[in-house]
Amino acid sequence: MSKLIGILTSGGDTPGLNSAIRAVGKTLLHQGGYTLVGYLDGFRGLMENRFVVLDDTYLSGIITRGGTILGSSRDKPHKMPIGGKVMDMTDVIVENYHKNHLSGLVCLGGGGTQKNAFRLAKAGLNVLTLPKTIDNDIMHTDISFGFDTAMMIATEAIDRLHSTASSHHRIIIVETMGHKVGWLALGSGLAGGADVILLPELVYDEQVVADAILRRTREGKKFSIVVVAEGAISQTMAKVLSEDNGKQKVEQMLKTRTADLATKLEKLTARETRVTILGHVQRGGTPTPYDRMISTALGSRCALEIMENRWGHMMAYQNNEIVPVALESVAGPVKYIPENHYLITCAKEMGVGLGQ
Ligand code: F6P
Repeated sequence: MSKLIGILTSGGDTPGLNSAIRAVGKTLLHQGGYTLVGYLDGFRGLMENRFVVLDDTYLSGIITRGGTILGSSRDKPHKMPIGGKVMDMTDVIVENYHKNHLSGLVCLGGGGTQKNAFRLAKAGLNVLTLPKTIDNDIMHTDISFGFDTAMMIATEAIDRLHSTASSHHRIIIVETMGHKVGWLALGSGLAGGADVILLPELVYDEQVVADAILRRTREGKKFSIVVVAEGAISQTMAKVLSEDNGKQKVEQMLKTRTADLATKLEKLTARETRVTILGHVQRGGTPTPYDRMISTALGSRCALEIMENRWGHMMAYQNNEIVPVALESVAGPVKYIPENHYLITCAKEMGVGLGQ
């Protein structure tokens, strides 16, 4: 009798999820002895026992598709909205796992998913995970799939904004996603030739940003591109953070932060300023070849781990190798950009403004 493995995608979708599902499934089918079932809409599907059998037909023709064929949600097993209440549904999930005679569960997701998967592992389930997120903030993996595609989309947007910024002699502020880290802003900012890059890891001073732009004006440059990560905070916000209820206040401030920064820069530089918020377009569409390659390699290696009956790991990409890392080491901590990272050094050495 073939062994049953469940798979689900949880958290924000990213390009590369389908290629990862395909690689897990095709490797298991090719090696034989396994049936893969896909739970729909993340942990909610596992709780509601909604699944599809991922046979060869289901897995065909999906490598180029963005999003996830399984659907996703941000529902957590221990905090699930049920009829107006938030409930701990871990026991129901564990029960469904056993009722369905699953031999293991593969969870594809970002930081939150790693934590939830670890909780299920602690509840006694055989769990493996794969790292996906456009934020690239998962510990112990050099890269998460989805990041490369988001970088490409953000860089293309910055490229396109150059010509209009230049025609109108404007400042254009481009806001990237990235949650609380700046990998996407830093990568796409450098690749797109941004003049200023603002990161959550480096608190910025608006006056310093304005000075960098004024310096460019004196040098005869008629436009400036400022890339700001959605989690970047100014000195003013950093000060508010240290007050009572500071976190809540700063969350509010972050909502209008990019528009506020535009107003401030316009005032300080006397240059017309426009804002482009890239938003979910960074998560959309077909994955890059690199994301497909990495997610395929991670997925296939995950299937081998299943066949070896090894559980409790995230498959990680480290120094050109796929390696298993203990789930407990990735469940919780966030991979921020270290201050001495070579890309930050590179930006500083090239005179790219970091607002400091
Ligand atoms: O984690 C991926 C991400 O796109 C973040 O960059 C962003 O902050 C968040 O998800 C947006 O979440 P949602 O799709 O739920 O609005």
